[in-house]
Amino acid sequence: MRVLVTCIALSATLFTTPTLAQDAEAGEDLFRRCASCHKIGEDAQNAVGPVLTGVIGRAAGSYEGYGYSRSMTAANEAGLVWSEETVFDYLENPTKYLRAVLDDPRARAKMSFKLRDEEDRRNVVAYLATFSTPMDEASAAEGETSVCVVNGSDETRLFAAESNGENRVTGTLAPGETLCSEGAGDGMVTVFEAPDHLEGCTRLVSAGGQDALLKYADFDRCAWTSNTN
Ligand code: HEC
Repeated sequence: MRVLVTCIALSATLFTTPTLAQDAEAGEDLFRRCASCHKIGEDAQNAVGPVLTGVIGRAAGSYEGYGYSRSMTAANEAGLVWSEETVFDYLENPTKYLRAVLDDPRARAKMSFKLRDEEDRRNVVAYLATFSTPMDEASAAEGETSVCVVNGSDETRLFAAESNGENRVTGTLAPGETLCSEGAGDGMVTVFEAPDHLEGCTRLVSAGGQDALLKYADFDRCAWTSNTN
């Protein structure tokens, strides 16, 4: 299981920049096929399926108030975070995807819908991503780098991002929100247990990188540190 979790974390890191050719407008049309079960947008409510607002960057199986399947809850516990890449893979065949992720031939997705066409999947994922806070693409294009953190948990928490020991920014992020430090070079990102308890989970991120952090005590994705300020 440890190996599996590492793989998921790695793929989440590798595909943080939009690597897929994509067309969010075509995706909006395609989303009609999802809309019978999923709502998206500011005031979306859970329906047959969970709300998809901010799903890119969110921990799998984590939207509040939705009754997920046992398999999706297991994927959450295994550390699966939805990125453009993981949703792209999931949509092709949700049950097959969860079986592979969980290494459990009996895993079963509650979502019966499959989207096989690759281009359709790219487009719909691009559309979903428009409802998540993107990385600062403009500064990346200018050759500047930044270090970003995504709240991959289902709760609002305090996060910090810092590049090269400077330009430390902190912010309280809702699930799926992103915080970036504007400095250059490698850096690190932290999620704190609570605003008045600044011990947290810190991970190193390379220049221009982004990481989704789940929570304070997520041992597989954390190094433990103590913060003094
Ligand atoms: C027939 C209903 C149905 C359709 C159509 C459907 N879904 Fe789902 N979807 C679900 C259900 C139910 C779940 C919860 C899965 C579980 O708990 O295993 C889900 C889960 C998801 C998740 C995981 C969400 C989370 O919070 O972990 C994503 C992402 C997703 N669907 C995307 C889509 C997209 C994109 C489409 C359209 C291309 C789509 N779904 C079409 C029913 C549907």
